[in-house]
Amino acid sequence: MDCAELIRSRESVRSYDPARSLDREVLLRILEAGRLAPSAANRQPWQFIVVEHPETLGKVRACYHREWFHKAPCVLVVTGSRDLAWKRASDGYCSIETDLAIAMDHMILTAENEGVGACWIAAFDPVVLRQALNLPHDTCLFAITPLGYPEAAYSKKGTKTRKPMDEVVTFV
Ligand SMILES: Cc1cc2nc3c(=O)[nH]c(=O)nc-3n(C[C@H](O)[C@H](O)[C@H](O)COP(=O)(O)O)c2cc1C
Repeated sequence: MDCAELIRSRESVRSYDPARSLDREVLLRILEAGRLAPSAANRQPWQFIVVEHPETLGKVRACYHREWFHKAPCVLVVTGSRDLAWKRASDGYCSIETDLAIAMDHMILTAENEGVGACWIAAFDPVVLRQALNLPHDTCLFAITPLGYPEAAYSKKGTKTRKPMDEVVTFV
């Protein structure tokens, strides 16, 4: 799919077939897109955690109580290190969230290109997730997404609810 079409067609998927897991190669192509993402000063302050073991999945699912989330065969957790991320000397601005957002978006768009459903989730319980994965307190738990194929009955909305161009763009 070309880039513009990919951006137009991507939708957050909230329907997963628990019986269909991802082939390793497909999963690796999605992760590769995150690995290749740009980051400030090329610090690459990320760690991507693929949760697929049933026992760990059970624990991770408790961080976000939605039936559709619990059906996904795999959850991708995007984490990072504030210490590794670039900081602006003049005011201390830290690029960690920006870097992780770009990696996340690269992976979500690649999932779309592979026909794999994804949904960026920020409203998870970080305490539960940190405990489920046994992550140190200083690991930045940025975002998670289920990865999986939509259920047979699922169909895309096909429309985007977005502000019009003239509301969000200014030419000066
Ligand atoms: C930073 C961010 C956080 C989000 N968190 C959640 C979430 O916790 N739960 C959820 O169901 N969707 C979440 N979404 C998905 C948005 O609701 C969705 O992207 C938006 O409504 C536009 O719909 P679309 O992705 O289908 O184009 C999040 C998206 C972003 C970018």
